[in-house]
Amino acid sequence: MSIITGKNICKSYGKDTLENKVLKNIDIEVSAGEFVAIMGKSGAGKSTLLYQLSALDKPTSGEITIDGKNILDFDESELVNFRLYTLGYIFQDYALIPDLNVTENVLTPLLMRGIDWKTAQKISKEVIDSVGLEGKYNNLPSQLSGGEQQRVSVARAIAGKPKILFADEPTANLDSVSGRSVIDLLAKLNEEGQTIVMVTHEEEYANHCNRIIRLEDGVVKKIEDRNYLLTNTTKGSVEHVAPINLPTY
Ligand SMILES: Nc1ncnc2c1ncn2[C@@H]1O[C@H](COP(=O)(O)OP(=O)(O)O)[C@@H](O)[C@H]1O
Ligand SMILES: [Mg+2]
Repeated sequence: MSIITGKNICKSYGKDTLENKVLKNIDIEVSAGEFVAIMGKSGAGKSTLLYQLSALDKPTSGEITIDGKNILDFDESELVNFRLYTLGYIFQDYALIPDLNVTENVLTPLLMRGIDWKTAQKISKEVIDSVGLEGKYNNLPSQLSGGEQQRVSVARAIAGKPKILFADEPTANLDSVSGRSVIDLLAKLNEEGQTIVMVTHEEEYANHCNRIIRLEDGVVKKIEDRNYLLTNTTKGSVEHVAPINLPTY
């Protein structure tokens, strides 16, 4: 079942002679439960495409349906709510709030949903434990390594059980060991059913995905179906990951 459908997506910046056509007539479908990688050189339009598919931006033309909703019909406040309740985001620079500790960073979006403080704290603790950060509840982001900060951002993104998780180069600022552990974490979440769309330029990490969408100059050059290659042993080397028991609530 398709959870994201994009038809003829075009995105331009600037106008007239200065128009920069960044995405050109892109058709894309993501099925529920898939782990999809978007790959391509720097400047190919990967982030721009991810922003259109994740309701962070609207295309110049085309159609986008996410979880059965035509997001181009939404006004700004409907979009804010849709993102808050349905989608989760992970960015290259973690985007944590520096003055808030780990727990506060993770529970903020839960409070914004109207969940009471006590429940939000309980959920946050369970999710923080599930990403392997037990005991770091009161640390500030500056007191954590890059890999740990990215785990906090994963915890924050999944705490609200989003239907789709979007990640824009989540390992770009990490050393290879931390990067691997973040990818293993995403692979494990995907095995548990989480739909994930991830931009990456690391071939090795994309190998854990069901499909690789290769972008070149704003055009889909190639879609590689990797399902036939993926087995339990090749899909994420999950043995490096702390066991994940996502809370049910
Ligand atoms: N907000 C913006 N305003 C103008 N041009 C932009 C903007 N965002 C991206 N671009 C341009 O779009 C192209 C693709 O950018 P991006 O999607 O960030 O590429 P990638 O993520 O593949 O490196 C680049 O040429 C970039 O300069
Ligand atoms: Mg980018």
